[in-house]
Amino acid sequence: MHSMPSVSIVGAAGYTGQETLDRVLAHPQLELVAVGSSSLAGRPATALDPRLNRNGTSQVPVFVANDAALAAGADVTFLCLSHEEAAALEPPAEGVVVDLSGAHRLHDPSQYERWYGFTHPRPGDLAQWVYGLPELVEGTGRLIANPGCYATATLLALAPLKGAIEPGSVVVDAKSGMTGAGRTLKPSTHAGFVLENVSPYKVGEHQHVPEIAQLLGFPVSFTPHLLPVRRGLIATCNVRSTGPDLRALLERAYAASEVVTVLPEGVAPELSRVQHTDTAEIGVFTDRFTDRTIVICAEDNLGKGAAGQAIQNVNRAFGFGDTTGLRLPGVLV
Ligand SMILES: NC(=O)c1ccc[n+]([C@@H]2O[C@H](COP(=O)([O-])OP(=O)(O)OC[C@H]3O[C@@H](n4cnc5c(N)ncnc54)[C@H](OP(=O)(O)O)[C@@H]3O)[C@@H](O)[C@H]2O)c1
Repeated sequence: MHSMPSVSIVGAAGYTGQETLDRVLAHPQLELVAVGSSSLAGRPATALDPRLNRNGTSQVPVFVANDAALAAGADVTFLCLSHEEAAALEPPAEGVVVDLSGAHRLHDPSQYERWYGFTHPRPGDLAQWVYGLPELVEGTGRLIANPGCYATATLLALAPLKGAIEPGSVVVDAKSGMTGAGRTLKPSTHAGFVLENVSPYKVGEHQHVPEIAQLLGFPVSFTPHLLPVRRGLIATCNVRSTGPDLRALLERAYAASEVVTVLPEGVAPELSRVQHTDTAEIGVFTDRFTDRTIVICAEDNLGKGAAGQAIQNVNRAFGFGDTTGLRLPGVLV
């Protein structure tokens, strides 16, 4: 009998690691063999979450150090680490590797100094990594760079319009829930700062701009904001068409997708409909006064913006159905 691909998660104790873990456990064609965490090594899965001990028997192996998870020889390795940690490691020589950090998304190594603040330690390796945005990038590879959460929403809204919008006209206003900043506590993610507040940050200098530009072919003016909610992300993209019907282009691009929905005319995306799902919603509006087009994309930063997309990339690499193991929405979720 053919066994299922084995999975190791490196950095399983962070937000994206935890979300990836949950999806792997729910996936009918993947078998979890190793979970890595430097802080939880040697401890049972229940140290992360008591719900991982359903019926008294843990479904998850005991945590090992991240190095051991990396060396587990799994058919699929998810890297859920910081950009700098992921950039420094030698990826496993075999099996599919999906890096959820930004360490392998940019082709040009010099961009890392400018946007990420570190010199890429393995610049020669970057060309081997495929940018894994399944709806927009054809083909796959063994080494997959999972796109950033803001980049995913922005590119889902704009990439099908490439060639139909004025490059210099694009302004993106984006907002994300607090989990987008990761689990590690910082003054800017402290409840006392975030609650009852909305704060713009990294204005005009967010590190997802270069990966957006890499796929679109031109940069966009981008302002992220931190929202006082746990999860979910909305990118409002304001563009000028060069003539074509932009709604028609988006509807065509996602006609066959079960993950991305273009909403009917007059209907705007809502955070609450995409939270806890791996889907994205797109709304298209014409500004009556300026004749510009406003394309709004909503997703869950930890779903389509991270772990959901990572699973989609594995599904594609192994020829499983595109939505196998994904969290698709019901109604009133
Ligand atoms: N969060 C998102 O929405 C999102 C979306 C797309 C991509 N990403 C990218 O994915 C990568 C991982 O992001 P993340 O959000 O999962 O980061 P995170 O929550 O900060 O977790 C990263 C690592 O921090 C350690 N950690 C966990 N809990 C901690 C705590 N309470 N205090 C201190 N350290 C703790 C864990 O490592 P040890 O147990 O080994 O110490 C964990 O693997 C990053 O490169 C990020 O940019 C994130």
